[in-house]
Amino acid sequence: NSSEARPVPFPIPANVYAETVVSVKHYTDRLFAFRVTRPKSLRFRSGEFVMIGLPNAEKPVFRAYSVASPAWDEELEFFSIKVPDGPLTQHLQKIQPGDTILLRQKATGTLVLDALTPARRLFMISTGTGIAPFASLLRDPDTYERFEKVVLTHTCRDRAELTYGQELVAALRDDPLIGEYADRVTLYNSTTREETPVMGRITTLIESGKFYSDLGIEPLNRETDRVMICGSMHMLHDVKELVEKRGFVEGSLSSPADFVVERAFVG
Ligand code: A2P
Repeated sequence: NSSEARPVPFPIPANVYAETVVSVKHYTDRLFAFRVTRPKSLRFRSGEFVMIGLPNAEKPVFRAYSVASPAWDEELEFFSIKVPDGPLTQHLQKIQPGDTILLRQKATGTLVLDALTPARRLFMISTGTGIAPFASLLRDPDTYERFEKVVLTHTCRDRAELTYGQELVAALRDDPLIGEYADRVTLYNSTTREETPVMGRITTLIESGKFYSDLGIEPLNRETDRVMICGSMHMLHDVKELVEKRGFVEGSLSSPADFVVERAFVG
């Protein structure tokens, strides 16, 4: 229903969807989420990303955004950082319902269930906006058909940045498709800058064993577990090293294995 969109100042480039912003929710001065209409012909796997832009220039700036909504949803949801001088996000953070968003027509990405071989537990390790692809996968019944237990870790600088993920996990109970699986999901939060009950980077908490003792779970084990990782470049590097040290092998669609990695969008 792009007909409801406000007029845009520049022509829509070829091979790009023009969609309408449905809702916007600001969590902090650094983080916000928004939902847009979904092009009927856009196909994606839960966990994949699309390229997003704004119709504010002849040649719009596009950036990769993980779709935070599941593949069955009629709308698309995104979770974004706001960077004051970020080429896209300095404008994107001002969007309102009714505004137009541009979407390139192809979805892609490595954080997909098909890149992992079967196992019992799935660990989703995220920092900041890196939780977005997991917001999609946690709302996809396929995740629970493949894994008995799902542990989502989300580490942010401060408490307010954890709200999006906490609301997401709390809402699983009332989700008609997912509600029956909600008690198989565990959320593990930590902060690194504001004082909260669990402090520290997830890498430190895993290495020290506090992560396992806090949850009362068995340590990461390649025989029983698969891992998906999404966050900043440094975080990806450190978590990848941590799982590789434990024998985990990186998987892909052409060669499914034990873990997959994707960089969260910044800027
Ligand atoms: P820290 O505060 O110690 O940098 P950001 O918002 O900058 O993307 O960071 C999100 C979270 O990721 C912060 O809590 C940050 O901790 C943490 N983080 C940053 N770098 C790493 C890393 N190399 N490994 C694990 N966590 C990290």
